[in-house]
Amino acid sequence: MIRVGVIGLGMMGNTHLDVYTKRKDVQVVAVSDKNPDRLSGKVRAGGNVKGQAKAGFDLAAFERFDEGMDLIAHPGIDVVDICLPTPLHMKYALAALKAGKHVLLEKPMARTAKDAAKLAKAAKTSKKNVMVAMCMRFWPGWTWLKEAVDNKTYGKVRAAHFRRVANHPGGPFYSDGDQSGGAILDLHIHDTDFIQHVFGVPSSVRSWGYSKETNKIDHVVTHYEYARGGPMIFAEGCWCMSPGFGFSMNYTVNFENATAIFDLAAADTLTLVHQGKRSAVKLDPRMGYELEIDYFLNCVKKGVKPTVVTLDGAANSVKIVEAEAKSIATGKPVKVK
Ligand SMILES: NC(=O)c1ccc[n+]([C@@H]2O[C@H](COP(=O)([O-])OP(=O)(O)OC[C@H]3O[C@@H](n4cnc5c(N)ncnc54)[C@H](O)[C@@H]3O)[C@@H](O)[C@H]2O)c1
Repeated sequence: MIRVGVIGLGMMGNTHLDVYTKRKDVQVVAVSDKNPDRLSGKVRAGGNVKGQAKAGFDLAAFERFDEGMDLIAHPGIDVVDICLPTPLHMKYALAALKAGKHVLLEKPMARTAKDAAKLAKAAKTSKKNVMVAMCMRFWPGWTWLKEAVDNKTYGKVRAAHFRRVANHPGGPFYSDGDQSGGAILDLHIHDTDFIQHVFGVPSSVRSWGYSKETNKIDHVVTHYEYARGGPMIFAEGCWCMSPGFGFSMNYTVNFENATAIFDLAAADTLTLVHQGKRSAVKLDPRMGYELEIDYFLNCVKKGVKPTVVTLDGAANSVKIVEAEAKSIATGKPVKVK
């Protein structure tokens, strides 16, 4: 039995608890939130993806702490799951490692690339696992794409467009650019991370964007530049859509011999256009959160370090996002490597 403690009962803490409480190999020992209404369950945070954060568990069944550091000090916990606001990620992950716990850490790895690199360095000398919850690397339809690219099933990728747009989620954390980093760090990092996972770290980025909801970039379009003759890769991320728009996540990838289209709205299927035919590829109906937690817990059980998401990889994503913000500020391409 793996004994878990979850810190932060917002959208993501609730999403992870939904997953843990359905598993037979996990005992949720404790939860923590400094907001008394969230800690008591009086107020439950919801999610932006259908089926997310349904709160099918009773908070009264767990030990409860109003300070995350007290949960970290609990001797009966093996895994600390950190779903705190981004500026607290590095400090709490380092404290959990020091206390001898495995750590699942929500994305982005840290508020700055400097802090992310510091955490990656510290974790290298630890026997415990720290994995950043880069959920797109586990998302059905996105794992399909990674496999198709790696195996060149439909030839090389010529062009790809990833798009993740929403209306602003509201709330104090997302409204404060210094906390969340704006949509470019909080939302768009999912596509930046997936792009470097599949296509490698780009040599440079050229981005366009603007601020609207926070003092950071809230709408970004980036061209990820690869060597001459490489694929044309673009991603758009935004939380400036009109209130009521909801959340949309999709990609179109054009291979030499096929076109693949993913749209979150097309439940559990991917559209593949190949050899003159359009077909629906059936996908695992589970969300990436469930698959990411399954992978992380299996690494803990086997005593191996995660390889699907490495700390250097997650830190690189923060670094690339910072290069994107710099490109917007300067109006020029910015080297990443
Ligand atoms: N993987 C994803 O798809 C995804 C989606 C949304 C958010 N996130 C990330 O997850 C993190 C949390 O996001 P959220 O929407 O759940 O945020 P949130 O602000 O709704 O929740 C964070 C909670 O942490 C609590 N908290 C703050 N300091 C604390 C402390 N010292 N001890 C205990 N509790 C404390 C707050 O009271 C709050 O309830 C962010 O880094 C965000 O970027 C990831």
